[in-house]
Amino acid sequence: MSDRRDFLMRLGIGAGVAGLATQGAASLRSLVPNVSYDAPTTVKLGLPAEFPDGLKFLPDQRLFVFRQGNVFHAISAVCTHLGCTVRAEALSQPEEQSVGGLALRLTHRFLCPCHGSRYSGDGGNVSGPAPRPLSWFHLDVAPDDGQLVVDLAREVGRDFRLTVA
Ligand code: FES
Repeated sequence: MSDRRDFLMRLGIGAGVAGLATQGAASLRSLVPNVSYDAPTTVKLGLPAEFPDGLKFLPDQRLFVFRQGNVFHAISAVCTHLGCTVRAEALSQPEEQSVGGLALRLTHRFLCPCHGSRYSGDGGNVSGPAPRPLSWFHLDVAPDDGQLVVDLAREVGRDFRLTVA
């Protein structure tokens, strides 16, 4: 009888230790952030020749890619107020302006359908609740197949231009 009690007690202690070990491992794991550091932020967008002169909207990336000859830049379509997707409105007359110290032909402006924020063609917030300009993102040409590549984690200044050879 006492052997049985002994056995049951040991079993109980064993289960308790195992439970504590599991709990300890779980709480240690909770200290490690659940982040994947190699999540891709670069996206191939297609060959430069597939982009029309002017603007192309890419809904999957919520991005506007602008082309003027062989010069490209990309502006986010994510409203800086609460993140709705802004719409592009074509200007009746394209405007030549200095943007970031470099000449740029502006063909559109942007309007947010959610709360009416307006942005100029270079992404500057003009009116409404938007607190900041639309982001510009880094563009490059993929060395393997020549496609345009955007890096959605890399904001750039308004002087950014990618010239494709
Ligand atoms: S989300 Fe664009 S104005 Fe509010």
